[in-house]
Amino acid sequence: MKLAVAGKGGVGKTTIAAWLGDHLARQGREVWLVDADTALSLGAAMGLAPGDIPAPLIADADLIRSRVGTGMISLTPEVADLPERLSVRAGLARLLVMGSVAGAGGGCACEANALLKALLAHLVLTRDQWLVVDLEAGVEHLGRGTVAGVDGLVVVSEPSFRGLSVAARVAAMAAELGLDRQVLVLNRALPGQALPDIPGLPPLAAAIPPLPGLVARQLGDPSVLGLPEQGDIDAAMDAVLTALAAQSQDQPQHPRYAPCAMSS
Ligand SMILES: Nc1ncnc2c1ncn2[C@@H]1O[C@H](COP(=O)(O)OP(=O)(O)O)[C@@H](O)[C@H]1O
Ligand SMILES: [Mg+2]
Repeated sequence: MKLAVAGKGGVGKTTIAAWLGDHLARQGREVWLVDADTALSLGAAMGLAPGDIPAPLIADADLIRSRVGTGMISLTPEVADLPERLSVRAGLARLLVMGSVAGAGGGCACEANALLKALLAHLVLTRDQWLVVDLEAGVEHLGRGTVAGVDGLVVVSEPSFRGLSVAARVAAMAAELGLDRQVLVLNRALPGQALPDIPGLPPLAAAIPPLPGLVARQLGDPSVLGLPEQGDIDAAMDAVLTALAAQSQDQPQHPRYAPCAMSS
């Protein structure tokens, strides 16, 4: 199963991607966490020291060219070996640092995007293998169609009108790509907070309160694992996975992407 975590900046996407990956890995699943954000913070959230976090794949022009070519981009590059070969151990999961094409600075940005898209579209996973992608903030990347090959989308928001408006736009754009299996996670929500009437929000799967253990931890340590609230976090991740599993498997696939400008 391939999941992606999306939403406005700062709402908790990286934190929830790390929690989901760790939760699945502790259940014995083989998990690849894919950092597809410019900020590259998923490794730190998984407790890796800066020196143990590999350089992002998008910086490896040779690899990208060898897989997707230049100019005439291969739409079905070989990707099967990438997770195992290029990932590093991160807790019980593995981490693949892709980086975001927004941070690629011209050059082979389009090819790098093609590689991430291909990874999500063509990697064949068994039932017990999971890929969890921490996406770039906002909605722009959705126009590139990267998540068309993902099986489920976790849309994260704070209980704020702006966060929820971005969540609704993310949901609508993902649905246009055929990604209809979506859930909303309300992060840093106070008990009983009702959602405003914003059309198009995915169904709410879990509400996670501000966690004092994480607030106390994060001043000196970016890791979000092994918190005192682990039981509550696991219950929330279970709710997310159950809500995704409950949604129809046979979703329509109508991929529509913006054309990718050639860079070389
Ligand atoms: N439920 C929570 N309680 C307390 N702090 C949180 C919670 N969720 C996230 N945070 C903190 O908020 C900050 C932003 O979270 P992050 O996952 O990096 O957001 P994003 O990836 O969406 O930009 C981090 O410092 C994280 O530790
Ligand atoms: Mg992040």
